[in-house]
Amino acid sequence: MVLPFQGKPMPVQRSFVLLKPDTVQRNLIGEVISRLERKGLQIIGMKMLIPSVDLATRHYHEHAQKPFFQSLLKFIVSGPSVALALEGDEAIAVARSLIGATDGRKAAPGTIRGDFGISRSSNLVHGSDSPEAAERELKIWFSEGFVAWSRCDKPWLDSE
Ligand code: RTP
Ligand code: MG
Repeated sequence: MVLPFQGKPMPVQRSFVLLKPDTVQRNLIGEVISRLERKGLQIIGMKMLIPSVDLATRHYHEHAQKPFFQSLLKFIVSGPSVALALEGDEAIAVARSLIGATDGRKAAPGTIRGDFGISRSSNLVHGSDSPEAAERELKIWFSEGFVAWSRCDKPWLDSE
């Protein structure tokens, strides 16, 4: 008899990922979400929205003193984005590694920025860079909470 494979339950971490306005305008939503899903990250929140200046300012507050802040704000509120709440083992680092380096010209091929962009400012995707940032960002973008569900392929993703 063949027994169903039962992996070791994964420790769970949450991350916030934003598909920025250029991803939406360039019809890359499906491509980007597909990469995150196929990697094994579970989507527990997803919505399209045009963020207010207030939301965008709170999200990028760490860059408030940078010379590019005003153009960054203008970009982020310029059209719809897709906000994602993701869950998985080391979700923060895993999402960042799929996204790639900030500047599309320097981002490694195989990463989202490396495959689809040649800009440092219009770089397609944001991903939380620490557990503290993830918690803060998820609170401001998903104040309504998340959807509780379990991927049916979870046992196949769980082993060390
Ligand atoms: P993100 O926060 O969006 O995930 O990007 P990141 O960590 O890779 O880069 P970060 O240094 O946090 O910069 C935030 C976003 O600001 C824009 N940026 N523009 N013109 C510039 O010099 C410049 N530098 C950064 C990018 O959209 C970057 O993702
Ligand atoms: Mg950042």
